[in-house]
Amino acid sequence: MTAIFSPQWMQDWKSAINSSSEYHKHGKGWKDPLILKFSSGQENLPQKGVTGFWLDLYEGKCRAIRYANPADEANTPTVLSAGFDHWKSMIESGSDPLFLLMKGTISLEKGSLLKLTGQRNAAKALLKAASDITSDNHYAEPAHSLSNILTVATVAVERTAFSTTTKGLDFDSFPMQLFQKAKQLGIWNPSDIDFSKDKEQWQAFSELEKNVLMHLTGMFVAGEEAVTLDLLPLIMTVAEEGRIEEEIFLTSFLWEEAKHTEFFARFLKEVTGGHINMQHFHGPAYKSLFYEELHEALNRLKTDKSPESQLRASVTYNLIVEGTLAETGYEAYFNMLTEQDILPGLREGIGHLKRDESRHIAFGLYFIKRLISAHPHLNDLLEQEAGRLLHKAIDVVNEIFDPHPEMPFGLDRGWYIEYASSQFSKRIAKLTS
Ligand SMILES: [Fe+2]
Ligand SMILES: [Fe+2]
Repeated sequence: MTAIFSPQWMQDWKSAINSSSEYHKHGKGWKDPLILKFSSGQENLPQKGVTGFWLDLYEGKCRAIRYANPADEANTPTVLSAGFDHWKSMIESGSDPLFLLMKGTISLEKGSLLKLTGQRNAAKALLKAASDITSDNHYAEPAHSLSNILTVATVAVERTAFSTTTKGLDFDSFPMQLFQKAKQLGIWNPSDIDFSKDKEQWQAFSELEKNVLMHLTGMFVAGEEAVTLDLLPLIMTVAEEGRIEEEIFLTSFLWEEAKHTEFFARFLKEVTGGHINMQHFHGPAYKSLFYEELHEALNRLKTDKSPESQLRASVTYNLIVEGTLAETGYEAYFNMLTEQDILPGLREGIGHLKRDESRHIAFGLYFIKRLISAHPHLNDLLEQEAGRLLHKAIDVVNEIFDPHPEMPFGLDRGWYIEYASSQFSKRIAKLTS
Protein backbone atom coordinates (compact mmCIF):
# COMPACT_ATOMS: atom_id res chain seq x y z
CA MET A 1 0.00 0.00 0.00
CA THR A 2 1.41 3.39 -0.96
CA ALA A 3 1.80 6.18 1.59
CA ILE A 4 -1.33 8.27 1.96
CA PHE A 5 -1.29 11.62 0.12
CA SER A 6 1.96 10.79 -1.73
CA PRO A 7 2.26 11.45 -5.50
CA GLN A 8 1.83 7.70 -6.16
CA TRP A 9 -1.25 7.66 -3.91
CA MET A 10 -2.78 10.46 -6.02
CA GLN A 11 -2.22 8.41 -9.18
CA ASP A 12 -3.74 5.33 -7.54
CA TRP A 13 -6.70 7.43 -6.47
CA LYS A 14 -7.20 8.68 -10.01
CA SER A 15 -7.18 5.08 -11.33
CA ALA A 16 -9.60 4.00 -8.59
CA ILE A 17 -12.00 6.85 -9.48
CA ASN A 18 -11.86 5.89 -13.15
CA SER A 19 -12.59 2.26 -12.30
CA SER A 20 -15.54 3.21 -10.11
CA SER A 21 -18.84 2.54 -11.84
CA GLU A 22 -20.52 4.48 -9.02
CA TYR A 23 -18.46 7.59 -9.77
CA HIS A 24 -19.01 7.16 -13.48
CA LYS A 25 -22.77 6.98 -12.90
CA HIS A 26 -23.17 9.79 -10.33
CA GLY A 27 -20.41 12.14 -11.49
CA LYS A 28 -22.04 12.89 -14.84
CA GLY A 29 -22.99 16.55 -14.99
CA TRP A 30 -19.90 17.77 -13.11
CA LYS A 31 -17.43 19.46 -15.47
CA ASP A 32 -15.24 21.65 -13.29
CA PRO A 33 -12.02 21.17 -11.38
CA LEU A 34 -12.19 21.00 -7.61
CA ILE A 35 -9.73 21.68 -4.80
CA LEU A 36 -9.67 19.67 -1.59
CA LYS A 37 -7.73 22.04 0.58
CA PHE A 38 -5.92 21.53 3.86
CA SER A 39 -6.98 24.22 6.34
CA SER A 40 -4.24 23.03 8.70
CA GLY A 41 -1.49 20.43 8.82
CA GLN A 42 -0.15 21.07 5.27
CA GLU A 43 3.34 20.50 6.66
CA ASN A 44 2.47 16.79 6.86
CA LEU A 45 2.14 16.58 3.08
CA PRO A 46 5.12 15.01 1.31
CA GLN A 47 5.77 18.18 -0.69
CA LYS A 48 6.20 21.72 0.66
CA GLY A 49 4.26 24.79 -0.52
CA VAL A 50 1.15 22.93 -1.62
CA THR A 51 -2.33 23.67 -0.33
CA GLY A 52 -4.19 20.42 -1.04
CA PHE A 53 -5.31 18.36 -4.03
CA TRP A 54 -6.48 19.66 -7.38
CA LEU A 55 -8.85 17.27 -9.13
CA ASP A 56 -9.87 17.65 -12.75
CA LEU A 57 -13.25 15.94 -12.85
CA TYR A 58 -15.25 15.80 -16.04
CA GLU A 59 -18.52 13.96 -16.71
CA GLY A 60 -17.94 10.99 -14.44
CA LYS A 61 -14.20 10.68 -15.13
CA CYS A 62 -11.10 11.98 -13.40
CA ARG A 63 -8.69 13.51 -15.92
CA ALA A 64 -5.96 14.46 -13.43
CA ILE A 65 -5.07 14.74 -9.77
CA ARG A 66 -2.12 16.77 -8.59
CA TYR A 67 -1.10 18.88 -5.61
CA ALA A 68 -2.80 22.28 -5.54
CA ASN A 69 -0.88 25.49 -5.09
CA PRO A 70 -2.21 28.86 -3.86
CA ALA A 71 -2.54 30.22 -7.43
CA ASP A 72 -5.00 27.44 -8.39
CA GLU A 73 -7.78 28.84 -6.23
CA ALA A 74 -8.52 31.79 -8.52
CA ASN A 75 -9.28 29.47 -11.45
CA THR A 76 -11.07 26.68 -9.58
CA PRO A 77 -14.82 27.14 -8.99
CA THR A 78 -15.10 24.82 -5.98
CA VAL A 79 -12.84 24.73 -2.93
CA LEU A 80 -13.57 22.46 0.03
CA SER A 81 -11.33 22.60 3.06
CA ALA A 82 -10.66 20.56 6.21
CA GLY A 83 -7.72 19.90 8.50
CA PHE A 84 -5.09 17.29 7.55
CA ASP A 85 -6.26 14.88 10.25
CA HIS A 86 -9.89 15.24 9.20
CA TRP A 87 -9.20 14.49 5.52
CA LYS A 88 -7.08 11.55 6.55
CA SER A 89 -9.60 10.07 8.96
CA MET A 90 -12.58 10.58 6.63
CA ILE A 91 -10.72 8.80 3.85
CA GLU A 92 -9.66 5.98 6.14
CA SER A 93 -13.14 5.54 7.58
CA GLY A 94 -15.10 6.17 4.37
CA SER A 95 -17.37 8.75 6.03
CA ASP A 96 -20.25 10.45 4.26
CA PRO A 97 -18.92 13.75 2.83
CA LEU A 98 -22.35 15.43 2.76
CA PHE A 99 -22.82 14.86 6.47
CA LEU A 100 -19.31 16.13 7.21
CA LEU A 101 -20.06 19.25 5.18
CA MET A 102 -23.26 19.85 7.16
CA LYS A 103 -21.49 19.13 10.41
CA GLY A 104 -18.83 21.70 9.55
CA THR A 105 -15.91 19.24 9.47
CA ILE A 106 -15.54 20.17 5.79
CA SER A 107 -16.09 23.84 4.85
CA LEU A 108 -17.23 25.10 1.50
CA GLU A 109 -14.78 27.97 0.92
CA LYS A 110 -15.88 28.57 -2.64
CA GLY A 111 -18.66 27.19 -4.81
CA SER A 112 -22.35 26.36 -4.81
CA LEU A 113 -23.92 24.26 -2.06
CA LEU A 114 -26.85 23.46 -4.35
CA LYS A 115 -24.48 22.10 -7.00
CA LEU A 116 -22.60 20.04 -4.42
CA THR A 117 -25.75 18.50 -2.95
CA GLY A 118 -26.66 17.43 -6.49
CA GLN A 119 -23.28 15.63 -6.61
CA ARG A 120 -23.42 14.10 -3.14
CA ASN A 121 -23.42 10.51 -4.40
CA ALA A 122 -20.50 11.30 -6.68
CA ALA A 123 -18.64 12.78 -3.68
CA LYS A 124 -19.29 9.58 -1.75
CA ALA A 125 -17.88 7.52 -4.64
CA LEU A 126 -14.81 9.79 -4.83
CA LEU A 127 -14.10 9.30 -1.16
CA LYS A 128 -14.76 5.59 -1.38
CA ALA A 129 -12.22 5.32 -4.20
CA ALA A 130 -9.68 7.05 -1.94
CA SER A 131 -10.66 4.81 0.94
CA ASP A 132 -10.28 1.66 -1.17
CA ILE A 133 -6.65 2.42 -1.98
CA THR A 134 -5.83 3.57 1.55
CA SER A 135 -7.22 1.13 4.03
CA ASP A 136 -8.26 -2.49 4.17
CA ASN A 137 -10.87 -1.47 6.67
CA HIS A 138 -12.89 0.84 4.47
CA TYR A 139 -16.60 1.26 4.85
CA ALA A 140 -16.79 -0.81 7.99
CA GLU A 141 -20.22 -0.86 9.60
CA PRO A 142 -20.32 1.53 12.55
CA ALA A 143 -20.43 -0.19 15.91
CA HIS A 144 -24.01 0.88 16.57
CA SER A 145 -25.55 0.11 13.23
CA LEU A 146 -29.21 -0.51 12.63
CA SER A 147 -28.70 -4.24 12.63
CA ASN A 148 -27.42 -3.96 16.19
CA ILE A 149 -30.50 -2.07 17.28
CA LEU A 150 -32.60 -5.12 16.55
CA THR A 151 -30.84 -7.15 19.19
CA VAL A 152 -31.25 -4.67 22.06
CA ALA A 153 -33.73 -5.88 24.62
CA THR A 154 -36.77 -3.86 25.64
CA VAL A 155 -36.47 -2.18 29.01
CA ALA A 156 -39.43 -2.74 31.30
CA VAL A 157 -39.86 -0.23 34.10
CA GLU A 158 -41.69 -1.27 37.23
CA ARG A 159 -43.93 1.33 38.91
CA THR A 160 -43.03 1.92 42.54
CA ALA A 161 -44.35 5.46 43.11
CA PHE A 162 -45.79 8.54 41.44
CA SER A 163 -43.79 11.70 40.75
CA THR A 164 -46.52 14.01 42.00
CA THR A 165 -46.65 12.31 45.41
CA THR A 166 -42.90 11.97 45.91
CA LYS A 167 -40.60 14.59 44.37
CA GLY A 168 -43.42 16.66 42.79
CA LEU A 169 -43.72 17.79 39.20
CA ASP A 170 -40.57 19.46 37.95
CA PHE A 171 -42.04 22.75 36.73
CA ASP A 172 -38.59 24.07 35.80
CA SER A 173 -37.86 21.16 33.49
CA PHE A 174 -37.61 21.95 29.78
CA PRO A 175 -40.66 19.87 28.79
CA MET A 176 -42.80 21.68 31.39
CA GLN A 177 -41.56 25.06 30.11
CA LEU A 178 -42.55 23.98 26.61
CA PHE A 179 -45.94 22.88 27.93
CA GLN A 180 -46.53 26.35 29.42
CA LYS A 181 -45.72 27.86 26.00
CA ALA A 182 -47.99 25.37 24.25
CA LYS A 183 -50.88 26.42 26.47
CA GLN A 184 -50.29 30.08 25.63
CA LEU A 185 -49.33 29.90 21.95
CA GLY A 186 -50.80 26.61 20.77
CA ILE A 187 -54.40 27.60 21.41
CA TRP A 188 -55.64 28.34 17.94
CA ASN A 189 -58.56 26.79 16.19
CA PRO A 190 -58.24 25.70 12.54
CA SER A 191 -62.04 25.97 12.28
CA ASP A 192 -61.90 29.70 13.07
CA ILE A 193 -59.70 30.56 10.10
CA ASP A 194 -61.50 32.55 7.45
CA PHE A 195 -60.84 31.05 4.02
CA SER A 196 -63.28 33.29 2.09
CA LYS A 197 -60.54 35.42 0.45
CA ASP A 198 -58.46 32.29 -0.28
CA LYS A 199 -61.43 30.78 -2.08
CA GLU A 200 -61.85 33.85 -4.25
CA GLN A 201 -58.15 34.09 -5.08
CA TRP A 202 -57.89 30.37 -5.86
CA GLN A 203 -60.24 30.77 -8.81
CA ALA A 204 -57.90 33.33 -10.39
CA PHE A 205 -54.71 31.23 -10.22
CA SER A 206 -53.31 29.71 -13.41
CA GLU A 207 -53.32 25.92 -13.83
CA LEU A 208 -49.57 25.81 -13.14
CA GLU A 209 -49.96 27.87 -9.96
CA LYS A 210 -52.80 25.65 -8.76
CA ASN A 211 -50.78 22.55 -9.53
CA VAL A 212 -47.74 23.75 -7.55
CA LEU A 213 -49.90 24.77 -4.57
CA MET A 214 -51.65 21.38 -4.66
CA HIS A 215 -48.29 19.62 -4.87
CA LEU A 216 -46.97 21.42 -1.78
CA THR A 217 -50.22 21.02 0.13
CA GLY A 218 -50.37 17.34 -0.81
CA MET A 219 -46.97 16.85 0.79
CA PHE A 220 -47.78 18.90 3.90
CA VAL A 221 -51.18 17.39 4.65
CA ALA A 222 -49.90 13.81 4.36
CA GLY A 223 -46.83 14.73 6.40
CA GLU A 224 -49.03 16.08 9.17
CA GLU A 225 -51.21 12.98 9.04
CA ALA A 226 -48.10 10.79 9.21
CA VAL A 227 -46.70 12.54 12.30
CA THR A 228 -50.13 12.45 13.96
CA LEU A 229 -50.46 8.72 13.32
CA ASP A 230 -46.89 7.85 14.33
CA LEU A 231 -46.31 9.84 17.54
CA LEU A 232 -48.17 7.53 19.93
CA PRO A 233 -45.40 4.91 20.38
CA LEU A 234 -43.03 7.68 21.53
CA ILE A 235 -45.61 8.97 24.04
CA MET A 236 -46.08 5.42 25.32
CA THR A 237 -42.33 5.03 25.67
CA VAL A 238 -41.83 8.09 27.88
CA ALA A 239 -44.98 7.20 29.85
CA GLU A 240 -43.66 3.72 30.55
CA GLU A 241 -40.42 5.23 31.81
CA GLY A 242 -42.43 7.43 34.20
CA ARG A 243 -41.29 10.67 32.56
CA ILE A 244 -44.46 12.55 33.40
CA GLU A 245 -43.17 16.02 32.45
CA GLU A 246 -42.29 14.82 28.95
CA GLU A 247 -45.60 13.05 28.58
CA ILE A 248 -47.49 16.16 29.67
CA PHE A 249 -45.81 18.18 26.92
CA LEU A 250 -46.38 15.41 24.38
CA THR A 251 -50.14 15.60 24.94
CA SER A 252 -50.04 19.13 23.49
CA PHE A 253 -47.68 17.93 20.75
CA LEU A 254 -50.08 15.28 19.51
CA TRP A 255 -53.07 17.63 19.77
CA GLU A 256 -51.21 20.18 17.66
CA GLU A 257 -50.27 17.65 14.97
CA ALA A 258 -53.94 16.66 14.79
CA LYS A 259 -54.89 20.31 14.33
CA HIS A 260 -52.29 20.73 11.58
CA THR A 261 -53.83 17.78 9.73
CA GLU A 262 -57.29 19.26 10.17
CA PHE A 263 -56.10 22.68 9.00
CA PHE A 264 -54.71 21.50 5.65
CA ALA A 265 -57.64 19.11 5.12
CA ARG A 266 -60.01 22.04 5.64
CA PHE A 267 -58.04 24.18 3.17
CA LEU A 268 -58.28 21.43 0.55
CA LYS A 269 -61.98 20.90 1.15
CA GLU A 270 -63.06 24.53 1.26
CA VAL A 271 -60.61 26.36 -0.99
CA THR A 272 -59.36 24.05 -3.70
CA GLY A 273 -62.71 22.59 -4.64
CA GLY A 274 -63.02 19.42 -2.61
CA HIS A 275 -61.14 16.22 -2.12
CA ILE A 276 -59.17 14.71 -4.97
CA ASN A 277 -56.65 11.89 -4.97
CA MET A 278 -53.25 13.51 -4.40
CA GLN A 279 -51.08 10.43 -4.06
CA HIS A 280 -49.29 11.22 -7.32
CA PHE A 281 -47.64 14.19 -5.61
CA HIS A 282 -45.63 11.75 -3.45
CA GLY A 283 -42.40 10.79 -5.20
CA PRO A 284 -40.09 7.88 -4.29
CA ALA A 285 -38.06 9.87 -1.72
CA TYR A 286 -41.19 11.24 -0.06
CA LYS A 287 -42.64 7.74 0.12
CA SER A 288 -39.42 6.35 1.50
CA LEU A 289 -39.37 8.90 4.33
CA PHE A 290 -43.04 9.32 5.18
CA TYR A 291 -44.46 5.91 4.32
CA GLU A 292 -41.51 3.79 5.46
CA GLU A 293 -38.73 5.39 7.54
CA LEU A 294 -40.92 7.44 9.88
CA HIS A 295 -43.53 4.74 10.32
CA GLU A 296 -40.95 2.03 10.93
CA ALA A 297 -38.74 4.07 13.31
CA LEU A 298 -41.65 5.11 15.54
CA ASN A 299 -43.53 1.83 15.46
CA ARG A 300 -40.41 -0.12 16.41
CA LEU A 301 -40.82 1.45 19.86
CA LYS A 302 -43.85 -0.76 20.44
CA THR A 303 -41.55 -3.76 20.79
CA ASP A 304 -38.13 -2.22 21.33
CA LYS A 305 -37.86 0.76 23.67
CA SER A 306 -34.07 0.67 23.85
CA PRO A 307 -32.19 4.01 23.85
CA GLU A 308 -31.00 3.17 20.31
CA SER A 309 -34.57 2.83 19.07
CA GLN A 310 -35.65 5.98 20.89
CA LEU A 311 -32.79 7.91 19.33
CA ARG A 312 -33.58 6.65 15.88
CA ALA A 313 -37.26 7.56 16.30
CA SER A 314 -36.48 11.11 17.41
CA VAL A 315 -33.81 11.69 14.75
CA THR A 316 -36.26 10.60 12.04
CA TYR A 317 -39.27 12.44 13.46
CA ASN A 318 -37.89 15.60 15.06
CA LEU A 319 -34.55 16.22 13.36
CA ILE A 320 -35.31 15.21 9.77
CA VAL A 321 -39.07 15.26 9.17
CA GLU A 322 -39.86 18.27 11.35
CA GLY A 323 -36.51 20.03 11.77
CA THR A 324 -35.22 19.78 8.21
CA LEU A 325 -38.18 19.23 5.89
CA ALA A 326 -41.30 20.68 7.54
CA GLU A 327 -39.52 23.71 8.92
CA THR A 328 -37.98 24.55 5.55
CA GLY A 329 -41.21 23.89 3.66
CA TYR A 330 -43.33 26.03 5.99
CA GLU A 331 -40.80 28.85 6.12
CA ALA A 332 -40.66 28.97 2.31
CA TYR A 333 -44.45 28.68 1.97
CA PHE A 334 -45.09 31.39 4.58
CA ASN A 335 -42.56 33.81 3.05
CA MET A 336 -43.93 33.21 -0.43
CA LEU A 337 -47.56 33.84 0.69
CA THR A 338 -46.43 37.02 2.48
CA GLU A 339 -44.35 38.35 -0.43
CA GLN A 340 -47.09 37.59 -2.99
CA ASP A 341 -49.77 38.79 -0.56
CA ILE A 342 -52.03 35.84 -1.36
CA LEU A 343 -54.15 33.25 0.48
CA PRO A 344 -54.47 35.07 3.85
CA GLY A 345 -56.23 32.17 5.59
CA LEU A 346 -53.55 29.69 4.57
CA ARG A 347 -50.87 32.15 5.66
CA GLU A 348 -52.49 32.70 9.06
CA GLY A 349 -52.67 28.96 9.73
CA ILE A 350 -49.08 28.35 8.64
CA GLY A 351 -47.97 31.17 10.96
CA HIS A 352 -49.53 29.28 13.91
CA LEU A 353 -48.20 26.00 12.66
CA LYS A 354 -44.61 27.27 12.42
CA ARG A 355 -44.69 28.28 16.09
CA ASP A 356 -46.08 24.88 17.09
CA GLU A 357 -43.38 23.11 15.09
CA SER A 358 -40.61 25.12 16.73
CA ARG A 359 -41.69 23.69 20.12
CA HIS A 360 -41.80 20.16 18.70
CA ILE A 361 -38.28 20.50 17.29
CA ALA A 362 -37.01 22.00 20.56
CA PHE A 363 -38.44 19.00 22.40
CA GLY A 364 -36.75 16.63 19.94
CA LEU A 365 -33.36 18.25 20.46
CA TYR A 366 -33.80 18.07 24.23
CA PHE A 367 -34.84 14.41 23.95
CA ILE A 368 -31.86 13.45 21.75
CA LYS A 369 -29.46 15.37 23.99
CA ARG A 370 -30.87 13.59 27.06
CA LEU A 371 -30.38 10.19 25.43
CA ILE A 372 -26.81 10.98 24.37
CA SER A 373 -25.86 12.35 27.80
CA ALA A 374 -26.97 9.07 29.38
CA HIS A 375 -25.53 6.89 26.58
CA PRO A 376 -22.57 8.67 24.94
CA HIS A 377 -22.03 5.83 22.47
CA LEU A 378 -25.28 6.91 20.78
CA ASN A 379 -23.41 9.82 19.22
CA ASP A 380 -22.20 7.48 16.46
CA LEU A 381 -25.74 6.34 15.75
CA LEU A 382 -26.95 9.95 15.68
CA GLU A 383 -24.36 10.86 13.04
CA GLN A 384 -25.04 7.73 11.03
CA GLU A 385 -28.83 8.10 10.99
CA ALA A 386 -28.90 11.87 10.56
CA GLY A 387 -26.44 11.63 7.66
CA ARG A 388 -28.33 8.78 6.00
CA LEU A 389 -31.72 10.49 6.25
CA LEU A 390 -30.37 13.87 5.16
CA HIS A 391 -29.84 12.42 1.66
CA LYS A 392 -33.50 11.44 1.54
CA ALA A 393 -34.59 14.88 2.76
CA ILE A 394 -32.62 16.53 -0.05
CA ASP A 395 -34.20 14.13 -2.53
CA VAL A 396 -37.64 15.18 -1.23
CA VAL A 397 -36.78 18.85 -1.87
CA ASN A 398 -35.70 17.96 -5.40
CA GLU A 399 -38.97 16.11 -5.94
CA ILE A 400 -40.79 19.41 -5.33
CA PHE A 401 -38.83 21.22 -8.03
CA ASP A 402 -38.07 18.55 -10.65
CA PRO A 403 -41.59 18.35 -12.15
CA HIS A 404 -41.88 22.15 -12.49
CA PRO A 405 -39.19 23.65 -14.73
CA GLU A 406 -40.98 27.01 -14.47
CA MET A 407 -41.59 27.42 -10.74
CA PRO A 408 -44.19 30.14 -10.03
CA PHE A 409 -44.35 32.50 -7.00
CA GLY A 410 -40.56 32.95 -6.89
CA LEU A 411 -40.01 29.56 -5.20
CA ASP A 412 -36.33 28.74 -5.47
CA ARG A 413 -34.61 25.34 -5.16
CA GLY A 414 -31.33 26.92 -4.04
CA TRP A 415 -33.05 28.72 -1.18
CA TYR A 416 -34.67 25.46 0.00
CA ILE A 417 -31.38 23.56 -0.03
CA GLU A 418 -29.47 26.39 1.69
CA TYR A 419 -32.10 26.84 4.41
CA ALA A 420 -32.56 23.12 5.07
CA SER A 421 -28.77 22.64 5.21
CA SER A 422 -28.21 25.52 7.59
CA GLN A 423 -30.98 24.36 9.97
CA PHE A 424 -29.62 20.82 9.89
CA SER A 425 -26.03 22.00 10.48
CA LYS A 426 -27.02 24.20 13.42
CA ARG A 427 -28.84 21.34 15.10
CA ILE A 428 -26.08 18.80 14.55
CA ALA A 429 -23.60 21.29 15.98
CA LYS A 430 -25.78 21.69 19.09
CA LEU A 431 -26.27 17.97 19.52
CA THR A 432 -22.65 16.98 19.04
CA SER A 433 -21.05 19.85 20.99
FE1 LIG B 1 -47.21 19.49 12.46
FE1 LIG C 1 -44.64 18.78 14.62
